[in-house]
Amino acid sequence: MRHTFANPDFEALTKLWNEFHPARYAIDEDLLRLNTVQSPVFDWGASSTWWESGQVCGFVAVKKSAVSLYPGPDQDVAHISAIVYRDARIGVDMLADVKMALRNRGISKLVFGQDSRHFFPGCPIDSKALQSFLMVEGFTEGGLANDLERDLADYQNPYPAPIPGATMRYVEAEDLPALTEFMEREFPKRWNYDIAHKVRLEGSTPTVFGLFYGETLEGFALVQQGTARIPIGGAVWRNSLGPNWGSLGPIGVSEHLRGQGAGGALLGAALEQLKIEGVRQCIIDWTSLVDFYRKFGFEVTRQYRTMTLNLESNNGLK
Ligand SMILES: CC(C)(COP(=O)(O)OP(=O)(O)OC[C@H]1O[C@@H](n2cnc3c(N)ncnc32)[C@H](O)[C@@H]1OP(=O)(O)O)[C@@H](O)C(=O)NCCC(=O)NCCS
Repeated sequence: MRHTFANPDFEALTKLWNEFHPARYAIDEDLLRLNTVQSPVFDWGASSTWWESGQVCGFVAVKKSAVSLYPGPDQDVAHISAIVYRDARIGVDMLADVKMALRNRGISKLVFGQDSRHFFPGCPIDSKALQSFLMVEGFTEGGLANDLERDLADYQNPYPAPIPGATMRYVEAEDLPALTEFMEREFPKRWNYDIAHKVRLEGSTPTVFGLFYGETLEGFALVQQGTARIPIGGAVWRNSLGPNWGSLGPIGVSEHLRGQGAGGALLGAALEQLKIEGVRQCIIDWTSLVDFYRKFGFEVTRQYRTMTLNLESNNGLK
């Protein structure tokens, strides 16, 4: 029987998730609440929990386009933030419901993951059953994204040389106008929104590590650890990273500085800072720059395949 997400048993949903996915994707109840019903783009109409004989046997969490949060995203694209089921038959019924609800609203595309406050940047490639299920349901495959990790216990900065004229330190409250100006000037709107939201809730220290020339910001790295109230990006896998977990990313430097050593120096210093603060297992998420991060001793631990369903084609009409 289908239920809405109003007052669901989050303990039961979390348990079902943790039985469905490999341990490296384990979540906790707080995270499930944060990334579903507490998200401003959670789609209450298309999301559902499914029950049989008084037991939860599946749920699907759908998110709307993030266009209401920042300009840019296509308003006709929706996202499956998560789908979990005891039995593929239930998965098929749940997805049929989602497709119908979205199509009735004129939504043209359904993407697995990549939602605002996402769990997944794509379908985890080690969840073979889920990937096959999505393929059978008409989703098509796109590119690969990677998460990388390392233990910082024995980390040595490969780029310790100072950059002439630059300092690297946390962004402080008085730097916030410079942070806003820099993010708007250089980066995608999604990064700008995510960072501004984090800073509003958690403060800029210890959240944004910056590369400054005087008072001008020319580089940033978002860092998170146990104190983060809203874990985003790689920090959603904090349960698998263990105590003293850390997360870094996104990271970026101004376009005119790229390829001259600034990004390497910033990443090197930010990781050094995390090590000083006691971070051990550290994750860098949703990236294709594997060779760049390998220079810092990071190795790929998770991979995700972009999966998209065109709701306007016959494929999506099942
Ligand atoms: C990624 C980024 C931070 C790298 O900064 P950068 O200043 O261009 O990098 P550096 O010049 O310091 O390079 C340091 C080393 O990494 C290597 N490197 C830099 N970018 C790389 C890339 N995209 N892929 C592989 N290696 C890379 C350099 O060759 C150099 O190696 P070397 O020391 O062996 O010569 C920068 O390009 C950037 O801001 N990009 C836009 C935002 C972005 O894509 N961020 C990553 C999101 S996951």
